[in-house]
Amino acid sequence: MSISDQSLEEIKARIEIEEVVSDFLSLKRKGQNLWACCPFHDEKTPSFSVSPAKGIFKCFGCGKAGDAIEFVKEIEGLDYLEAMKFLGKKYGVELEEEPPTPEDLARQSQRESLFIVLNFAKEYFQKLLWEHEQGRAIGLSYFKERGYPEKVIKIFELGYSLEAWDALRKAALEQGYQQKLLVEAGLVVEKEEKAYDRFRGRVIFPIHNITGKVIAFGARTLNSQKGPKYLNSPETDVYQKSKVLYGLYQGRTAIRQEDNCYLVEGYTDVISMHLSGVPNVVASSGTSLTEDQIKLIKRYTNNITVLFDGDTAGIKASLRGIDMILSSGANVRVVEFPQGEDPDSYATKLGTTEFKDFLNYQVADFITYKTQLFLREAHDDPFKRVQTIKEVVLSISKIPDPLQRAVYMKKCSGLLDIDESLLIGELNKLQLKTSRQGVPPPTLRTEDLTELTKERISRNPNDAITHQESESIRLLLNYGNSKLDDDMFLHQYFFQELADVEFKTPKYQTILELLHTCVKEQGRVDAQILLERSQGAVKLEIINLLSDKYEISSQWMDKFQIYVPQEKEILSDVAYSNLLRLKYRVIKKLIDENRAELKQVEAQDQQQKLLQVDFELKKSRNELAKLLGIVVSD
Ligand code: UTP
Ligand code: MN
Repeated sequence: MSISDQSLEEIKARIEIEEVVSDFLSLKRKGQNLWACCPFHDEKTPSFSVSPAKGIFKCFGCGKAGDAIEFVKEIEGLDYLEAMKFLGKKYGVELEEEPPTPEDLARQSQRESLFIVLNFAKEYFQKLLWEHEQGRAIGLSYFKERGYPEKVIKIFELGYSLEAWDALRKAALEQGYQQKLLVEAGLVVEKEEKAYDRFRGRVIFPIHNITGKVIAFGARTLNSQKGPKYLNSPETDVYQKSKVLYGLYQGRTAIRQEDNCYLVEGYTDVISMHLSGVPNVVASSGTSLTEDQIKLIKRYTNNITVLFDGDTAGIKASLRGIDMILSSGANVRVVEFPQGEDPDSYATKLGTTEFKDFLNYQVADFITYKTQLFLREAHDDPFKRVQTIKEVVLSISKIPDPLQRAVYMKKCSGLLDIDESLLIGELNKLQLKTSRQGVPPPTLRTEDLTELTKERISRNPNDAITHQESESIRLLLNYGNSKLDDDMFLHQYFFQELADVEFKTPKYQTILELLHTCVKEQGRVDAQILLERSQGAVKLEIINLLSDKYEISSQWMDKFQIYVPQEKEILSDVAYSNLLRLKYRVIKKLIDENRAELKQVEAQDQQQKLLQVDFELKKSRNELAKLLGIVVSD
């Protein structure tokens, strides 16, 4: 049943995110926002924020964000309509439920009919397996040969389809099922006047949804000459392949209890693992995992362990898919099986205790595993080593939790035997690239420029540069500990970008150095420390820059109901353009100075050098101008 649009609007109009969230968490006010420990990931210090003004929540730890409706959906595991009903109750809004339309009724009864006929087929296949002569001789003895005890055959509701054209069709018609429905359920295939069973002479693996209803079948041939190894049901109104995981129904309780879900490829891997006492397992059915499937697993646990068959080509092909699991915020671990073994064969070979030991002994976190896998292949080939570093950093960049990213950066810098700051530089590059629509800010590093250009940087500044330097310091002092869109602290971003830049104005250079030392020691900008360590004009300047010059104007804006975004809200953009402008000004000044000198020198080779500098500087300037939207004439 659906809720009328009017009721939905009424609920939306009443929602106050603060009220909704505080039903679940105790929020503490800090500045404009409210804070709590995030309910969506494990943490001890609050990084979950609620902005009443904007009506949204955002966790700076795991990256979850959204509005009040999204919050209810996530925390209660509801879909949109269920969440709206929940909120309607909270706000006492009478829900006008619309009477189902004829189409609604038709679709509902169509789904019901599909469930019923699929259930009939499942019971029919089971009956054949246990009672029919052919079923017992071929199907049941096959399962027994694979070592499946009766109990497990029953848990998975395995069955058998007769070696005949339309045994199921006939049995179903006899029971009064329409042929049309059998076709819609994927059980019968119609072809030019003829109709025959899709599954014939195969053992049957029913596929269940999470409530235990059968929604499809996988059917394995027992005769390798006859068509593909597995035939599967086509997609139907009740079966969407990308949203289903084999084994989830049977494994869900164990997955929750063990707080871990093993991920394998096939039906028989799932069943063999159950036999070996590892029931917390699901199969993606031979394809790589979809986002919907990851969401399904995450209802039960945040830990996913991927089991790889022992074949390198197959593993490499699966790695990209795992980056997607990382992006979901899940902890990903992997177990690699010996060459030629898969979970099914190896579980059968080792038996319960040894197999469990193997899993526990062999498990590695995904990032470490991937690093070692690539390193093994790279040997001493420098090109391949660079490739390895890029690959590993790319995977790390997908992890939403900055703390976790930091831990992996440290670990991998050890494994790769490369300076951590280089890895971090690489990571920041990737993150800035994605967060600024593919436009990385050009970095002006001294090593990119010739000796002569470097010399110019040390000359006296003009006023425009001084202004931008003062702006940089002001931003660092006031917002140094704030996070930018891409989760980086503003101070990190500035110090990375200003790595080799020296400010021209002595007092700003002094403050910059004080800031740098402070961040190095404390990990954050601490104004108190800066004031203690400074004196005279420098101290005065810090105090000046610390006082918020936008305070008065914001009152004025309130009075006239004009909304202008606060500097803090658009910090990423402010910081980014401040740095661009700073660089732009520095370069412009360098160009002028260089040209003045060019007029004076006589020697040909000197002129040649200066022209080269001019060329380099212009190139950088034009790049910056483009980003700033400035038109330059020469
Ligand atoms: P496998 O070939 O590994 O099958 O394919 P399996 O499940 O391990 O079966 P056994 O142990 O050989 O009997 C893995 C999964 O890929 C899908 C199935 O979901 C299978 O479980 N698959 C494979 C198909 O859908 N069709 C095929 O023809 C083959
Ligand atoms: Mn297999």
